[in-house]
Amino acid sequence: MNSFKWIEAKSYNDMSRLGAELFIQQLQEKPASVLGLATGGTPEGLYEELVRNYNDGKITFEQAVTFNLDEYVGVPVTNKGSYHYYMDEQLFQHVNMQSNNINIPNGNVTDLNASAEAYEALIQEAGGIDLQLLGIGVNGHIGFNEPSTSFTSTTHIVELTSSTREANQIYFEQPKDVPTHAITMGIQTIVQAKKIVVLISGASKQEAYDRLRSGDISEDFPASALHMHSDVTVIFTDIRNTQFSQE
Ligand code: PGA
Repeated sequence: MNSFKWIEAKSYNDMSRLGAELFIQQLQEKPASVLGLATGGTPEGLYEELVRNYNDGKITFEQAVTFNLDEYVGVPVTNKGSYHYYMDEQLFQHVNMQSNNINIPNGNVTDLNASAEAYEALIQEAGGIDLQLLGIGVNGHIGFNEPSTSFTSTTHIVELTSSTREANQIYFEQPKDVPTHAITMGIQTIVQAKKIVVLISGASKQEAYDRLRSGDISEDFPASALHMHSDVTVIFTDIRNTQFSQE
C-alpha cells in the first residue's frame, strides 16, 4: 500500500517553493494553525520562502503556534548547533511569531523524561499539529527517531546513532562537540499530525527514498510509519543526480 502523494520537484529551490506553498495555504486558511517544524539542511529553502511571503504580506504568523520536532540534550540554546538557534536564524527572528507560541523541546533540564512528557502534553493541549514538516535521515529517521524506535513512541530521549552524529558534525566545531543524546517527538506523536509534508533532496538520500517508495512498513525504517497516515505529501528532488542543484 502506498497512498502518498509523490511530487518530483525540478530542483532544490522548486522543492522549497512547493513545500512552502502548503504552509502558506495552511496559514491562509487557518491563521491560528499549529505547525510542526523541522531543522537540518533540507528545509532551509522552505523557511526562506516563508520569510519572503511574510515580507510580501501574503502570510502572518501572529496567531500561529509552532512545535519543533527535536532538540539536542545539553546544548545551550545560544550555541550555534542548537535547534533553538537554527529556528531563530532561519525563521523566527524574521517573522511575527509570538514568542510564547514557539515550542521547542527543552534538552537543558535535569529531569529530561519530565521535559519530554510535558512537551507531549503541550502538543495535545494545543489541539494537535495541523501540518507537520519532515526531513528524512540517511538511515530513515524522522525527527531523531532512529531505526528500531517503536511506532507507538511519544516524545522521548534518544541516543543518536553514529551516522546521525556524523551527518550533523557540520553544525559543530569539533566532532567531540556533537551531542550524543536528543529529545524528540515520538513516531506516534508525528503520525498524529493531521497533514504531513516530507522533503527529500539529494543523492545521499537515495537509499532512504527508495525504501520509503517501496511501501514496506518496518520499525527498522522509521519513516515507513508514515504509510499508516492518510495525508502525506512527499516532495523530492535530485535523488538520482550526483550534482546537487541549487537552481
Ligand atoms: P538534513 O537532515 O535535512 O540535514 O539532511 C534531515 C534529517 O536528518 O532528518
